[in-house]
Amino acid sequence: VVVGRALPHESAGLHVTGHALYTDDLVAACADVLHAHPVPAPHAHARVLRLDAARALAVSGVVRVLTAADVPGTNDSGVKHDEPLFPDTVMFHGQAVAWVLGESLEAARLGAAAVQVDYEPLPAVLTLAEAIEAGSYQGGRPTVERGDVERGFAEAAHVFSGVTEMAGQEHFYLETHASLAVVDEAGQVFVQCSTQHPTETQEIVAHVLGLRSHEVTVQCLRMGGGFGGKEMQPHGYAAVAALGAVLTGRPVRVRLTRQQDVTMTGKRHGFHAEWRAGFDAEGRLLALDATLTSDGGWSLDLSEPVLARALCHVDNAYWLPHVRLHGRVAHTHKTSQTAFRGFGGPQGMLVVEDVIGRCAPLVGLDAREVRRRSFYVDGQETPYGQPVRHAERLAAAWRQLHDEADVERRLEEVAAFNATHAHTKRALALTPVKFGISFNFTAFNQGGALVHVYKDGSVLVNHGGTEMGQGLHTKMLQVAATALGVPLELVRLAPTRTDKVPNTSATAASAGADLNGGAVKDACEQILRRLAEVDAGRGLPWHDLVQAAYFARVQLWAAGFYRTEGLHWDSTAMRGHPFKYFAYGVCAAEVEVDGFTGAHRTRRVDIVHDVGDSLSPLVDLGQVEGGFVQGAGWLTLEDLRWDTSEGPQRGRLSTQAASTYKLPSFSEMPVDFRVSLLQHAREDGAVYGSKAVGEPPLMLAFAVREALRDAAAAFAPDGGGGTSVDLASPATPESVFWAVEDARSGD
Ligand code: MTE
Ligand code: MOS
Repeated sequence: VVVGRALPHESAGLHVTGHALYTDDLVAACADVLHAHPVPAPHAHARVLRLDAARALAVSGVVRVLTAADVPGTNDSGVKHDEPLFPDTVMFHGQAVAWVLGESLEAARLGAAAVQVDYEPLPAVLTLAEAIEAGSYQGGRPTVERGDVERGFAEAAHVFSGVTEMAGQEHFYLETHASLAVVDEAGQVFVQCSTQHPTETQEIVAHVLGLRSHEVTVQCLRMGGGFGGKEMQPHGYAAVAALGAVLTGRPVRVRLTRQQDVTMTGKRHGFHAEWRAGFDAEGRLLALDATLTSDGGWSLDLSEPVLARALCHVDNAYWLPHVRLHGRVAHTHKTSQTAFRGFGGPQGMLVVEDVIGRCAPLVGLDAREVRRRSFYVDGQETPYGQPVRHAERLAAAWRQLHDEADVERRLEEVAAFNATHAHTKRALALTPVKFGISFNFTAFNQGGALVHVYKDGSVLVNHGGTEMGQGLHTKMLQVAATALGVPLELVRLAPTRTDKVPNTSATAASAGADLNGGAVKDACEQILRRLAEVDAGRGLPWHDLVQAAYFARVQLWAAGFYRTEGLHWDSTAMRGHPFKYFAYGVCAAEVEVDGFTGAHRTRRVDIVHDVGDSLSPLVDLGQVEGGFVQGAGWLTLEDLRWDTSEGPQRGRLSTQAASTYKLPSFSEMPVDFRVSLLQHAREDGAVYGSKAVGEPPLMLAFAVREALRDAAAAFAPDGGGGTSVDLASPATPESVFWAVEDARSGD
């Protein structure tokens, strides 16, 4: 059995030797290619009064300037039809108002600089506070409600209220957005694109060009990271490349520089939450009333589904008897914020973890104890009405983590350290994760595959998912080899293409292996059933059987399909059973904080995470580690800053590069990092008993943030036990320093 074997990522060798090809590398095989460069607007909000390309066209090497007038179909690249590709009103600083095609990137760049544009600047709404003040919202305003919050507050022993704010996050995938488009003699468009959602890229390209879907093919070989940033954001760039190719008859390449990518593309949503929380006499959460406002940026993009997932994850691992959660999306003059690993889940969960972290000292309990007492028990329902199955796994993982991480003894060590160190404090905190798997929107929970068995017995697999480094292709190879009962070497995977498997869902919501694995397995089983008839109990070896089947004129390939059963979701009532199952995890993090500077370091991290019966343990381990580190980056380092001054720079993102945007690197890794996968965790009904792994581990990093809060509290005159610490997110050294100062002053 190949499933469950600890194999390296199928492209690991290519990755580390630099031989793995990415979309932009494919340019090498493309003669006569043109390069596209954007004309960026120098305002956050402005009307375009005049756009004159004459001087650009005079620049040597400039071939064409693309503007709204060139669009044969619809000048829009958003699925919500609120994203003009060539806008007449600028909606964020750096937005492209036109694109220049040149024989070289340098020619295109010089041409873009020569395009003359007159703007009439307009007032810009930038921050969430400004948007709330101005009532600037977009999209629906859903509410998740259960029980009677007012009664909950009346019965509560303690009631607190507060505001929790958290920043967004730049994806910073290694490969920036890239598309390469060619047109064939029949006018068919072929776009190679770094996209998590080839079908939607295909649809938007067709829409912009005024073509039908069958005239446009999108291929994704692999991505150098997506993290949600390539779920909806690639479409416009693919459309620019495709438009350029159609108009010039030559291949056109769009590849953003890092600075363009950071400036132009959407990020994780920052959120603002205003809340009231009630606890019972035992310190359990009893009532929670909160309004979550996300910073959607200039267009809707995925903001509504991100908000829905946020609202569906405010409960995290905790039973909330009385709860009311409102959500709304602010409309601001910034990049259009989008999917990012966890898809709103992290933001929703941060609210309840912040509530517990701040309120526990006021309730007179350790936050760890409030968390444990509030855990779901099996069968209790989430606020949106889905029973929490396997909640006992959470308690089991929590206990296992206490053992493996030696929590009680180390808490004593931390206390002893703090008692003897006035200017350095340590803390050890534990947090749980419960994350719903499946797309909230039921229709997206389907997958397709195409499996060919050739006469020589070799197997070629196509499936609807994309590879972004997460190891989906590795898992699909393992699923195909296992389902067919052949050695792994006989199976090869072909790039994801919309003309092989149509109507695919985004590779997102961590559901890639569940959906496409189900489809690959289905295709393999169809072939096996046909082969079994040919074999008729003879027990022929694979090659002989395949030969025999071919000569008997038996079809040796199959299209597979999978849909997740048992799901339903009412997006108006915000109720239903949107998730097939929940993924669980627990994390213990120990940090040390310097009282003079707020500088901090993560001394040790222990994780127990539930991936069901792992399809591919090495891949899953990598996902848990990578997810955790990305979460820790969001929560403790990465700080997006927009210029909010009233000058011409207003709305400009000032953190446009790795020099000003601090990403986790080796020096921020936990000094001691121990991950184990929860054992005996088979998930019936998912492919080979496995669970999705892509996103849930990101939220394990809450333990770092909570440990930083506790370490800051330890600077208080009382040593921390009763001190409620308000910690900004991200908890950069600067934020931690201010939290330490507050704790020291005793308020
Ligand atoms: N891992 C790597 N290396 N690169 C990525 O871009 N994206 C994450 C996660 N892990 C990502 C990653 C996100 S946002 C999701 S939704 C899942 O992978 C998507 O893949 P899956 O459904 O196959 O897990
Ligand atoms: Mo992941 S945010 O669902 O692409």
